[in-house]
Amino acid sequence: MAKLSTLEDLFIEQLQDLYDAEHQLTKALPKMAEAANSTQLQNAFNSHLSETEEHIRRLEDVFQSLGKKATRKTCKAMKGLIEEGSEVLKEDGEPSVKDAALIAAAQRIEHYEIAGYGAVRTFAQQLGHTDVADVLLQTLDEEAAADKKLTKIAESSVNRQAAM
Ligand SMILES: [Fe+2]
Ligand SMILES: [Fe+2]
Repeated sequence: MAKLSTLEDLFIEQLQDLYDAEHQLTKALPKMAEAANSTQLQNAFNSHLSETEEHIRRLEDVFQSLGKKATRKTCKAMKGLIEEGSEVLKEDGEPSVKDAALIAAAQRIEHYEIAGYGAVRTFAQQLGHTDVADVLLQTLDEEAAADKKLTKIAESSVNRQAAM
């Protein structure tokens, strides 16, 4: 078990957790895009895949500027969230209802990331890593934007169709 003697230790550990979570997500998003019925939703998943790849690169920059090796620590929460989401992929059903389920799963994932990046950004600020805090904020903003986009898709089309 990793030692958490200092806030810096906790900070690094949580970055490793996020680094793993983002990697898991790059595997899951293409499957979610493939399963999506709405073109708008497919596009949203695909564009968030590109962003997710950028999030990985940003974390690698963060590790580098902290003088640490980029290491993954299994993120069990993301594993569970993806697992739950992938149950939807296997189920038969009305396409718009399946889309609504995919959005619900994806938003759980985004909220998890928002919480994670919010925490590490605060740690970075407290530890005086100002530049790193700025980089983490960029990702945090993109996660929040992805979440909002999903809400819009749900409200504007998917949920309405699913309710019919
Ligand atoms: Fe991300
Ligand atoms: Fe995300």
